[in-house]
Amino acid sequence: MEKIDNNLFTTAIILAAGSGERFGGSVRKQMTLLAGKSILHRSVEAFYYCNEISAIVVVINPEDAELVKNDLLFASKKIHAIVNGGEDRASSAKKGFFAIPNVTKYVAIHDAARCMIDSGSISDVVKKAYETGAASAASLVTDTVKKIESGKITSTISRDDLVLAQTPQVFSKELYESALSDNCHGYYTDDNMLVEKKGISITPVFLNCPNIKITTRSDLDFAKFLISKKEKTSTPEYRIGHGYDVHRLVEGGKLILGGVDIPFEKGLLGHSDADVLLHAIMDSLLGAVGSRDIGQHFPDSSEEYLGISSLILLKKVSEVVSTNGCEIVNIDATVILQLPKLAGYIDEMKINIANALGISPEQINVKATTEEGLGFTGRGEGIKAEAVSLVRKK
Ligand code: CTP
Ligand code: MG
Repeated sequence: MEKIDNNLFTTAIILAAGSGERFGGSVRKQMTLLAGKSILHRSVEAFYYCNEISAIVVVINPEDAELVKNDLLFASKKIHAIVNGGEDRASSAKKGFFAIPNVTKYVAIHDAARCMIDSGSISDVVKKAYETGAASAASLVTDTVKKIESGKITSTISRDDLVLAQTPQVFSKELYESALSDNCHGYYTDDNMLVEKKGISITPVFLNCPNIKITTRSDLDFAKFLISKKEKTSTPEYRIGHGYDVHRLVEGGKLILGGVDIPFEKGLLGHSDADVLLHAIMDSLLGAVGSRDIGQHFPDSSEEYLGISSLILLKKVSEVVSTNGCEIVNIDATVILQLPKLAGYIDEMKINIANALGISPEQINVKATTEEGLGFTGRGEGIKAEAVSLVRKK
């Protein structure tokens, strides 16, 4: 992820404390699944993967606390607080605002119900707010707008001067804070309204994504349709990475491969536990997401990594994969050694690797081969390992 300039530290406040009356059903609207992920999860995900967003505050209904905590684990790195909302949207926004980190310079307030937003669109609105101090997602009015009196259409209102306000709505923290204190008991249906009351104008940003708000069941059906259409037409972005490592075999010491302590007369020499297989796998994953190599992430000059289990390092690598917006598709690795025979340990290695990476053992293949007595592996002087990993952009 890009390094954020502290003067632009932007916190997202995601509002998910509503009761979803118009949506109905036994599971609250924001926790309802839409193509495998909850509505709230989708909204938080878009902010989590947006480079301009440094922290996230989620405002929830206290009854959903346990569900939300588990559902949003993936975003824990950016989630600063999960707080309980209030009676109406305005008081939920206020509660969210009071929970933002002190360093915040901009706030991006978003209705969790607008879960079709994407990270690029959030970026567009946030960047506009950096320029102008106040920006809001918006859409043009395309229908002809009518005025009604006593239930009857009486005239036409020009739509040229109208836009529909959506979220995110992004303001400098200073501006939003002063608008809040001017209006602490006032009524407002969106945050723009609060800022407008100060006489400050807000720049509308027209987005390329269908930023619909899920209000009724039919909105959910429409969103499902849009997602399935997108999945059919878009090719997922895949990345491949390669890893290679060698460690010297020496008398004494432990032979640990794939996190399994294997009885053998010799052990591998290294700064960590010298698990050559996990090192190759880690390098392949880092390679796939374009994040250098294990030497950069875990330097062997650092005491911190002396004798460390490579399974701990592998777990850290899985976090690097995820903060780069990727998920693992599969890993294929080969250990090249003369002795000992590894066949009996492969299943355990796969389980160790799967647990560290939070994936299924079926996504991992580990195999071993000799080099027919040739070279340093053949003479039992060392063991080498190679791995390839495929990741998919989320
Ligand atoms: N919201 C909130 N706190 C409230 C009311 C609303 O955080 N007291 C949030 C909702 O969770 C939603 C957004 O504000 O993400 C916009 O509200 P809306 O779409 O109206 O959702 P609900 O209020 O939940 O739905 P309904 O009005 O049908 O009850
Ligand atoms: Mg509502």
